Amino acid sequence: MSLSRSLSGLQGEVAIVSGAAGGIGSAIVSALLAEGVRVVAFDRVMPPFAGHDADRVRCVVADVSQSTEVNALVARAIDEWGPVRFGVNVAGVLHTASVVDTDDESWQRLFAVNTTGVFNLSRALARHMMTQRRGSIVTVSSNAGGVPRQGMAAYGASKAAAALFTRSLGLELAPFGVRCNVVAPGSTRTPMLAGMLAEQGVESVIAGAPEQFKIGIPLAKLAEPRDIAEAVLFLLSDRAGHITMNELYVDGGASLHG
Ligand code: NAI
Repeated sequence: MSLSRSLSGLQGEVAIVSGAAGGIGSAIVSALLAEGVRVVAFDRVMPPFAGHDADRVRCVVADVSQSTEVNALVARAIDEWGPVRFGVNVAGVLHTASVVDTDDESWQRLFAVNTTGVFNLSRALARHMMTQRRGSIVTVSSNAGGVPRQGMAAYGASKAAAALFTRSLGLELAPFGVRCNVVAPGSTRTPMLAGMLAEQGVESVIAGAPEQFKIGIPLAKLAEPRDIAEAVLFLLSDRAGHITMNELYVDGGASLHG
């Protein structure tokens, strides 16, 4: 059976994407726009779509860790554009340090953005989607949220919390026909990874580091932001209409996670 693109259910719908100025977030916004979705793109810095048709993409500067800001932008999107069908949690911060070198502020910042931020946007959308009895939410977590990594205990914990939160929300929203899924990227070529790549080099990220118990990337390449966007769009779309509470690893096999 062949599936035509028109079965995706994306065209003409409204989406809200956090972290829309970043490497993965902006790729997701671009992919949604290409499918005819109208997008509210927000980030703590201005997303790079300000010059586009304001009827198709609205750029908003907001802090995902502040629930009042998130509630206000969701309410405004509904007010101006009608029902919101899709939500994508992409905003995130990375801080690497051993546990003994992790200070209070870094721990709190990781959880404020990576975990509370996911709660804030998902809760605002859940309240709305329950009344609509349709909708789909995807959280971009990390493969570091599913496997222990040296120097990533705090980051991995914040992502693991966001992932389980999203899957639990999927259980609560299933009776309302709303699906919630997780995409867990591995090393992806974006500004977030740039520091790590400059330090370690692409080859050694791909080769792995046995002394740190990292196996490397079996597919022998980094992910491109577009790879992550493809997985997110699939899970948002009607093509994934019977998939919820799932976690899809897009990491070239790096975590040996099925
Ligand atoms: P990025 O640094 O390019 O993008 C992250 C975006 O989140 C930035 O535009 C930043 O301004 C925004 N942001 C941070 N704090 C915010 C806040 N309080 N409110 C609103 N926006 C905020 O990084 P990238 O790579 O695009 O990351 C996207 C997501 O993917 C993140 O959640 C990250 O943890 C996750 N990820 C990335 C991987 C990678 O190798 N690049 C690997 C695994 C997961």
